[in-house]
Amino acid sequence: MGKIILVGATKGGVGKSVTSYNLAYSLASLGKKVLAVDFDSQANLTTCFGVENTAVMPVTIGHLMMAQMEDEKLPDPGEYIMSRNGVDFIPSSMVLSAVEAKLRLEMGAERMLAGILDPLRERYDFIIIDTCPALGALTINALAAADGVVITVNPQLLAMMGLQDFLKTIKKIKSRINPKLEVEGILLTMCEARTNLCKVISEQVTETFEGQIRIFDSKIPNTVKVGESVYYSEPLLEYAPGTKACKAYLDFGKELIAYEG
Ligand SMILES: Nc1ncnc2c1ncn2[C@@H]1O[C@H](COP(=O)(O)OP(=O)(O)OP(=O)(O)O)[C@@H](O)[C@H]1O
Ligand SMILES: [Mg+2]
Repeated sequence: MGKIILVGATKGGVGKSVTSYNLAYSLASLGKKVLAVDFDSQANLTTCFGVENTAVMPVTIGHLMMAQMEDEKLPDPGEYIMSRNGVDFIPSSMVLSAVEAKLRLEMGAERMLAGILDPLRERYDFIIIDTCPALGALTINALAAADGVVITVNPQLLAMMGLQDFLKTIKKIKSRINPKLEVEGILLTMCEARTNLCKVISEQVTETFEGQIRIFDSKIPNTVKVGESVYYSEPLLEYAPGTKACKAYLDFGKELIAYEG
């Protein structure tokens, strides 16, 4: 049965989408069957997978959420699961922002995404959800669907801010809606090798969460290769294999798998 992992943070621009994308390919290269789910109306992950115009997509995660909320039968997975170089994905579009507004008006609608993803577990080893940078109804739905959370932290961006709020929300979701939810760990992204900041923040995070949350040994370096690979809609494993960033994402995938025992 596949494990559902959410990549999240309450901050924007901390490498959630880039991590979801490259983690999916790392796990696939390690022999795992992976589905990546874009759960952000910005659709950055969908763009990473090379979809240029998300507005014309007939079935996106937003459409599935709408159908789920209306108790309609979902289309066949073949109609909405796309695939690129060995990784499957469910695209997103602006439709998801309408879902967010609707979710806020519905009662007990926290498990809509879980209802969509649970039947897909048997097809995959890992389902990776990329989320938006807010603690709104969408993120709550994603937390209700997930087994594990990877929290991305960018040392450049006042890393610790918002982290405690996010952890508090995770705790609440765990006790109220989704008892199996666990924090997998904190992944430091965009670590600048030339400055000491990554080391300092890493120590600060470790000190704060020692014994509670693990900090992944793999730290993602800050490199232009990432932006370039996104521009060309290629994962680092294709665009820049052998680079430090590529190796870091591969090691991160290994750490995540090893953690499963
Ligand atoms: N390791 C890295 N080195 C350099 N640039 C990076 C790295 N990781 C991500 N970026 C760049 O930083 C920007 C933000 O990354 P990304 O979109 O993954 O963040 P996000 O957390 O998903 O943002 P949002 O909150 O808007 O969804 C992008 O332009 C991306 O190309
Ligand atoms: Mg993103």
